Amino acid sequence: MKIAIMGAMPEETAPLLERVGEYTVHEFAGNKYYEATYKGHDLIIAYSKIGKVFSTLTATTMFQKFGAELLLFSGVAGAINPKLKIGDLIAATKLAQHDLDITAFDHPHGFVPEGKIFIEADASLVAKAMDVAKEMGLTLMEGTIATGDQFIADPVKNKWIGDTFNADALEMEGASVACVCDAMNIPFFILRAISDAADMDASFSFDKFLKSSAVQSANFIIKMVEHIE
Ligand code: ADE
Repeated sequence: MKIAIMGAMPEETAPLLERVGEYTVHEFAGNKYYEATYKGHDLIIAYSKIGKVFSTLTATTMFQKFGAELLLFSGVAGAINPKLKIGDLIAATKLAQHDLDITAFDHPHGFVPEGKIFIEADASLVAKAMDVAKEMGLTLMEGTIATGDQFIADPVKNKWIGDTFNADALEMEGASVACVCDAMNIPFFILRAISDAADMDASFSFDKFLKSSAVQSANFIIKMVEHIE
């Protein structure tokens, strides 16, 4: 099975590339795609650049150009749920776009006609992740992730997103990747390690913990690959 592993930033995919060792590099539409094999699987690895547009392009490219049949996302997120501390892991059970807003036409936040507010991640991959967490002796929270084209560094916005979407964490790519996978019938799993609390200190905390949290997430994703038949 050919597996796509995506991140948004180089810091999120560098630990994956280190783990797989040898790879071939392809350039397409402004991004680099790394082909590798690991534990009997063909992998295509890439970081998209930050945000919903670039992540949509990268996910689509991984399926349409490189033939990936399943997608794993590895990266960092800001916490909404106060139980989530720096370095903690969250697996998305469902994702929504918190900045998608046509409420002027009486639609709820995150909804456009013919779309849906929440897109569910593949339940069997989430279940597999819970087994992997147990094996690694790690705590993995299952929860809702909210995505938008904004770095959130404001407790008021954080609370609004939490209250509106009942979300546990927020980031800038998950829901757009989920939309692509949903439309193309590709099973997907989105993992994030917490880098900040999306509050006044978020940019400082993000800079400080991006690398270490990205490694936490990447190590977990590599273990997931080992468990996929
Ligand atoms: N990714 C990690 N932290 C974030 C934040 N505070 N806002 C948006 N995306 C993030």
